[in-house]
Amino acid sequence: MDKVTRRKFLGGATLAAAGTAMGPWVLRAGAQSGPIKIGVVLPYSGVYAVLGESITQAMELVFAREGWTVAGRKIELIKEDDEMQPPVGVRKTEKLIDSDKVDILTGPVHSGILMGMRDKVHNSKTILIVSNAGADAISRERCSKWIFRTSFSNWQPCQPMGDWVAKNVSKDVFLTAPNYQAGKDMMNAFKETFVPAGGKVVAEDYPKLGETDYAPYLTKIRQSGAKAVFAFYSGTDAVNFVKQFDQFGLKQSIKLTGAGFLTEPDVLPAQGKSALGVITGHFYTPLLDNATNHRFVKEFRDKYFGKMPDGFACQGYDTAEVILRALKAVNGNTQDKDKLVDAITKVEFDSPRGRFRFDPKTHNVIQPFIYVREVREVYGGLNNVPIDKVANVADPGTGCTLPA
Ligand code: BEZ
Repeated sequence: MDKVTRRKFLGGATLAAAGTAMGPWVLRAGAQSGPIKIGVVLPYSGVYAVLGESITQAMELVFAREGWTVAGRKIELIKEDDEMQPPVGVRKTEKLIDSDKVDILTGPVHSGILMGMRDKVHNSKTILIVSNAGADAISRERCSKWIFRTSFSNWQPCQPMGDWVAKNVSKDVFLTAPNYQAGKDMMNAFKETFVPAGGKVVAEDYPKLGETDYAPYLTKIRQSGAKAVFAFYSGTDAVNFVKQFDQFGLKQSIKLTGAGFLTEPDVLPAQGKSALGVITGHFYTPLLDNATNHRFVKEFRDKYFGKMPDGFACQGYDTAEVILRALKAVNGNTQDKDKLVDAITKVEFDSPRGRFRFDPKTHNVIQPFIYVREVREVYGGLNNVPIDKVANVADPGTGCTLPA
């Protein structure tokens, strides 16, 4: 029975009264005509605030394209700032699930917050589409039938870079990242291929997340004798690290490489020429030559006053596409969660990064490519120019047995 017919059929009776009289199917059908509530847990303040902003902007771009409606139901975003604090992120997650009763949850950016949210999401059977946080464990021993990831596992942009840096840059490398799970995951992934390729880790250093003065760490890098650095920093950490690396005079003698977040378009304008020549691994650059990306870059820049989309925006775009496509496939039915999980698993489309698909083994995105990119001044500004690529990068998924 479609919505109009049902409304006529119920006449003036309240839905509750009709439900009592006619059986639970009426209540089920009625509930499905309300808005689809999507809970968003992202940082809108702190070191990663710009990441949260890019993800949100791209999601809103895609939902606006659909008139904020899918399968006849309105789309409602309920946004919460996790303030980059795991206890806050967990509290906001509980509020969205228990009080707001969201149909789908998305976010977060910070790996530690994702790990904190994991059990609440899993035990309440809430569908979570991770739009950034890369914690490897979520595609491995802590995977869940209810959790999908449109962004990356921390392993994905870094594992191919170990071999590449050893063969093309240097075999004497200093590793540095913020001292939390994402930093550790990424450096371990780099080592996985760097050491077998003959590379030597000269030293490793893990400043606190949100460090503003890297001078003591840069002194250690200078004294280490390393010929290159492999770094993961993002948001304001990336701005400070890349600028201070240059101001310290290290750029002349030590090649800076890293995970792509180090020089994404969210931080490039603030880094300026300090970022020139930095080499990073990432699944996206706005320079990718495909029709979906051309359209995405144009629409995003038109809507957001010339702002260049970054990888985080691509993740937001893909998160919204996954949600829309899966909801269309189940006709807007968010109550049969098994069916919705099934539909999400099967979603496939042309994303700005290339062909998007989930690995059914882990529910993590398979990266069509990890690009090795170099920051160059081209097309009127600083851009991450692809110089090499590795195809079909899937997280190994060790220890994940879905459905879990
Ligand atoms: C993370 O915490 O997983 C993360 C944060 C920023 C960029 C990439 C990964």
